[in-house]
Amino acid sequence: MVYQIYVRSFADGNGDGTGDIAGMRSRLGYLRDLGIDAVWINPWYRSPLHDGGYDVADYREINDQFGTTAEAEAFIADAADHGIRVLLDLVPNHTSADHVWFVEALASARDSDARARYHFLDGRGPDGAEPPNDWQSVFGGSAWSRVADGQWYLHLFDESQPDVNWDHPDVADEFDAVMRFWLDRGAAGFRIDVAHSLTKAPGYPDAGLDVNDGKGTLHAVPYLDRDDLHPIARRWRRVLDEYDDRMMVAEAWVAAERRPLYLRPDEYHQAFDFDLLSAPWDATQFRGIIDDSLRAADAVGSNSTWVLSNHDVVRHATRYGLPPGIEPALWLLDGPHDLLEAERGARRARAAALLTLALPGSMYVYQGDELGLPEAWELPLDVLQDPIWHDSDHTVKGRDGCRVPIPWESTGPSLGFGEGGAWLPQPPTFAGLAASVQETDPNSTLLLYRRALELRRERLRSGPDLDGVVVWLDLGADVLAFERSDGLRCVANMGDESVTLPKGEVLLASGPIVGHHLPPDAAVWLG
Ligand code: GLC
Repeated sequence: MVYQIYVRSFADGNGDGTGDIAGMRSRLGYLRDLGIDAVWINPWYRSPLHDGGYDVADYREINDQFGTTAEAEAFIADAADHGIRVLLDLVPNHTSADHVWFVEALASARDSDARARYHFLDGRGPDGAEPPNDWQSVFGGSAWSRVADGQWYLHLFDESQPDVNWDHPDVADEFDAVMRFWLDRGAAGFRIDVAHSLTKAPGYPDAGLDVNDGKGTLHAVPYLDRDDLHPIARRWRRVLDEYDDRMMVAEAWVAAERRPLYLRPDEYHQAFDFDLLSAPWDATQFRGIIDDSLRAADAVGSNSTWVLSNHDVVRHATRYGLPPGIEPALWLLDGPHDLLEAERGARRARAAALLTLALPGSMYVYQGDELGLPEAWELPLDVLQDPIWHDSDHTVKGRDGCRVPIPWESTGPSLGFGEGGAWLPQPPTFAGLAASVQETDPNSTLLLYRRALELRRERLRSGPDLDGVVVWLDLGADVLAFERSDGLRCVANMGDESVTLPKGEVLLASGPIVGHHLPPDAAVWLG
């Protein structure tokens, strides 16, 4: 069970409105009590924060808003004392434009070695005034920006994030060294950002399609899911294997049938499965995704990863409150906002937690999901910081709504986030969802997660090894019911009618059970 910490928004130790390492250290007891095994920390390195830290200016220094390298080391050691391992976020597709390499590249000549560490090309058309090809930034607009001498550089994300050139030997050497730097300081491993990009087709051919529309074969795109990514993964694996018991997990947005390639025994230990996070509340779709994921992981000797939310998507407590067919990321701006059934979304989010925590494999939980936090969809436009808002020409609101600081207390200027304010305003509903409120409410989402994680650990410790297989039980098309190899049964009602539960002791329920009937939008564990 890995808990994702978005540093800026977790806990603010010095009262400046931005989360930091001091804040994280002060909450380690909370994380231990929650029952997690590891944290994954979003980038905490020096950065101008144009993309929340995914624009790294120095991979060996901590952002001074967050603390110091010494504090980072102390955090890793303290976490170990709490039984928690620390995964870091490695961003190898691009640096910040403030990185010393890019500053040097800009100051260097067109054919210089410094420019060859990035993708600098001449443009097309008269005077090279058109971008070198049709590639689009993931955030919107062309993936190319022009510099003073007329050349263009590639950025698959914001223009402040130039892509590095993985054909240049300095690049691979540098990332090996950065990995060793943090592994030497006790990091348990890495979450690898945009692991499906990195390499680009020789000659930079046009993509010839709108890649961002989500249709088409990603593998055919000249900069996605390419076969020459795998030698890089193998190289990293050799570095990790120099150390005891370290791991890496790929953020690879690839088709389900391509994911096993990343999980071969000499590559990544895990790859995020984003299919569940992209799926609507629908039993048939969930069942298909679970089956595919378990089968694919088993085929390569890996295990499944279950992800419902992260810092890039609308929180699932809100997603599940929207009607089918609505694209949550667009609904944030376009509405209509009265379509949202917040209570229903909250119930479903609790059911989804029990469902995923019952599955064999690893669970990745995004901070605040254990409090049932909804998306802060009401954020006023003038506070938005995500580059998507700007880069999409103000057509997509972006990801700030899932990055609002955590409410630890029900009162105070930032609800216990820190002594001061919060870098993004917390909606009024957050006060009632504060951790301190939920600690004392036996029916709270926080205590549901704690209890589920406790049971999960006990059973893993004392029971037989799970074999990664679940046997489906037929309780109707809208009901997801399965039995694990250790006998635990999970039933989730994703339909509109109550269902009669099979015999068995109710170990845990996401909501009230009336006479062995499971209401809609609820889940139970049966022993
Ligand atoms: C990943 C991160 C996202 C970031 C992007 C560029 O998808 O999760 O937050 O904006 O990479 O680094």
